[in-house]
This record gives sequence, C-alpha cells and structure tokens, in this order.
Amino acid sequence: MTDPRSNGPGQGPRKRVGILISGRGSNMRALVDACKTDGFPAEIVTVISNRPDAEGLEYARSENIPTVTIDHKQFADRQPFERALHHALRDARVDLICNAGFMRLLTAEFVELWHNRQLNIHPSLLPAFKGLRTHERVIESGGRITGCTVHIVRTEMDSGPIVAQAAVPVMPEDTPETLAARVLEAEHKLYPMALKLIASGEARIVGEKVVTEKDGGPVAVMFSPSLDP
Ligand code: GAR
Repeated sequence: MTDPRSNGPGQGPRKRVGILISGRGSNMRALVDACKTDGFPAEIVTVISNRPDAEGLEYARSENIPTVTIDHKQFADRQPFERALHHALRDARVDLICNAGFMRLLTAEFVELWHNRQLNIHPSLLPAFKGLRTHERVIESGGRITGCTVHIVRTEMDSGPIVAQAAVPVMPEDTPETLAARVLEAEHKLYPMALKLIASGEARIVGEKVVTEKDGGPVAVMFSPSLDP
C-alpha cells in the first residue's frame, strides 16, 4: 500500500517543513505555493513567527497551515526563546526548517540541534554581502551583478554550504528598493527550487559543500532571470 504521506509511486514521504518568519513572508508564500504542485517532495506543516504582527502569519492561516508565535521579547535571553522554538518544531514533527526572512540570530546550540536540516535565503551572492543593508552596499560597491543564495545554516551568520544561487543584474539607476524588488522576484523562484533539491535528496551535503546530481549529471543551481517582463 502506498504511504499516504508519499509523493507518488516509488517516492519517499514528503519532508515535513517548518518555516520561520519575522515579517512579510513573501518567500514563505512562494514555498507554500510550490508545495501545492504535484509531486513536490515537501509539505509545510507549521509557520512560526518571532513577531506577533508578522504579515505572513495571515497568509499561512488563510492556507490552513498551523501557525505559532514565539515572541522573542517575552524571553529573558536567547536560550529559553530557542528552547520554545525547538519544542514547537519538534511538536510539529518537522524534518527541515526554512528560514524565510527570519531576522533572529540563532545560537550554536540551536544550529547544531538542526545540523544540515535548516535552510536560509539571503539576498546576495554569498559569500559576498553578508548581513544587513545588502542592496545599499551592493549599489555602493559598483558591482554589476548581485543575486540571492539559499544555503544550509551554520553558526556564523549567512554562512554554510550553498544549495543554489540566482544572479540578478544591478542597473545604473537602481535604488536599494528597486534592486531589492528585482532580487526578491528571483528569491521566489530560487527558494522552492532549492527546497526541492534538498527534500528530494537530489542535493546532498558533503562536508561543507552541496553536491547535486541527477541521472549522473550535475543539476543546474544557478539561473539568471530574464529581463523581459
Ligand atoms: C528577503 O529578501 C530575504 O532574502 C531577506 O529578508 C527578506 C524577507 O522577505 N533575508 C535576509 O536578509 C536574511 N539575512 P519576505 O519576508 O517577504 O520573505
């Protein structure tokens, strides 16, 4: 008999994904929508926000996805906050975490508990431009190409094995806002693709690198979104 959680004949069960958000949640939405497509190897089982007013919570609820708010301000320090986060993820029987605009730094202890099971998206071509004010700094640098990266979370901020990247051009007239919007469009394509690679097992983490193979050949992990409307 086919496992009801299965992705189809011959496929393993879908990976149970918990998404962490802090705000708008447009990447969360892209992941939720991708999980609705036939044969997608993951399902979103919980959306957790550290901010009670995060806009993304509304969308998750409208999709009947269980949501949890764990307000970091209600905790004296990081450890009890992360314990609550860990318990919520464990209670939802999460296999993989996707950070999607989750703006809290996580301690080494939490990162180790979820070693190789936590993804993050960052709006630059890592390892360049880690941290905040990314688009402003890219424009200041005069670089002509930027992009976004999905990586496995390690203790050091915005570091870890790179799963997939998308390149996005920087235009001479760009402001941080116009550039952020162009990169965000690429993020919405990249994150579902990266989750699919990891959840399906097509991408494996070998040491500090991600190896992707399909039918013996490499899988494309970089694309350059067309400038056409
Ligand atoms: C996204 O651009 C994401 O890459 C960035 O925050 C935005 C969240 O938007 N994340 C980081 O900067 C993490 N270092 P969203 O809430 O609409 O997905």
